[in-house]
Formats: sequence, C-alpha cells, structure tokens
Amino acid sequence: MTKAVIINGSNSKSSRVMAIHEKVKNHLMAQGVEVHSNYIHELPAVDLITANFASESIQLENKWIEEVQIVVILTPIYKASFTGILKTYLDLLPQKALHGKVILPIAVGGSIGHLLALEYALKPVLAVLGATSISHSVYIVDKQIIRLDEGGFAIEEEAISRLEAELEQLRQLLIAN
Ligand SMILES: Cc1cc2nc3c(=O)[nH]c(=O)nc-3n(C[C@H](O)[C@H](O)[C@H](O)COP(=O)(O)O)c2cc1C
Repeated sequence: MTKAVIINGSNSKSSRVMAIHEKVKNHLMAQGVEVHSNYIHELPAVDLITANFASESIQLENKWIEEVQIVVILTPIYKASFTGILKTYLDLLPQKALHGKVILPIAVGGSIGHLLALEYALKPVLAVLGATSISHSVYIVDKQIIRLDEGGFAIEEEAISRLEAELEQLRQLLIAN
C-alpha cells in the first residue's frame, strides 16, 4: 500500500493551512493512500528547540518518513520563508531521509510577494536531505481560503485546481520513481 506523510509546519490547527491539509489528505486517501499527519507544533517543543535526536516522539515521526513513498510539506510563509517550526523538525531528520521519496511542497502566504520562498528557502534544504524527486511547489494566498461562519473553510476553485494538478503530477512522479 502506498503511504504518505503530511508534515505541517503551522502553529495551530485553526490556521487556514489546515484547509489545505485536509484537502490533500482527502485527495490522497481517495486514491487508496494511507496518510499520516505530522503536526510539528504538537511535538515536544523542548525536544525540537534543543535538537534532541534521542526524543521518542521525534524518532516515531522519523520512522514514518522512513516507511512512506510520498512526503507532502505544508507551511505558512513567515518572514519570507517557511516557518521556524518546520525547520526545527527538518533539522532532526536523519541525513538523506528524503532520498527515494516523492515530495510535494505547499505554502500558504499572506501575499503573492513571497511566491518564490519555497524555491529559494525550502528546496535547498530538501536537496540536502537527499530529495531528488520534487514536484512543482504550490503557493496559495491566504485570502483564497475562506473561514466559514459555521466552522471549517472554503477554498477558491483556482487554488483547488492548481493543487489538484500538482497532486496528479505527484502520482506520475510516484509511478516513474
Ligand atoms: C509571524 C508571521 C509572519 C508572516 N510573514 C509573512 C511573510 O513574510 N509573507 C507572507 O506572504 N505572509 C506572511 N505571513 C502571513 C501568513 O503566511 C498567513 O497568515 C498564513 O499563511 C495564513 O494562515 P493563518 O490562518 O494561520 O493566518 C506571516 C504571518 C505571521 C503570523
């Protein structure tokens, strides 16, 4: 069975980033993929900021990465880059942990100004971690994700269609891998 991890670098589950997380998760599950979600902000903060490689929780998450074929990396844009929260976890991955995986990077930003943040900030980190099969990244502006009064979110069609196109590309990369 194909397995995936979604690494979520946001600071809470109320973030609009969750709308994209759920969309990606449901899309993959509909294709029969087993999906594990890693919400980094729920991992022990001290282990993350002291780079505790012996942390049981971090090692459990790393084990998931070892076992999956697909890794989706989802982050809000903070200060023209991916979040520090995400970096604290990426720093604790073993060397070459992403070798042989297909990767889809996704960002949600407050403006279009940082459209290239994943290209200049995240992709070099992924390369150091051994990634060779990286799908085009998806950048979504936060106003394309609308909070609904009744709870939950609506995502603009334009964003959904770009997201779905890259999820299809991810599937093709997986077949070719
Ligand atoms: C500390 C902080 C820094 C941010 N820096 C940027 C930035 O540099 N560029 C940008 O486009 N958006 C920036 N944003 C906006 C977030 O990317 C945006 O609000 C987020 O993706 C949407 O999630 P939310 O529902 O949690 O607000 C920043 C937000 C915060 C809280």
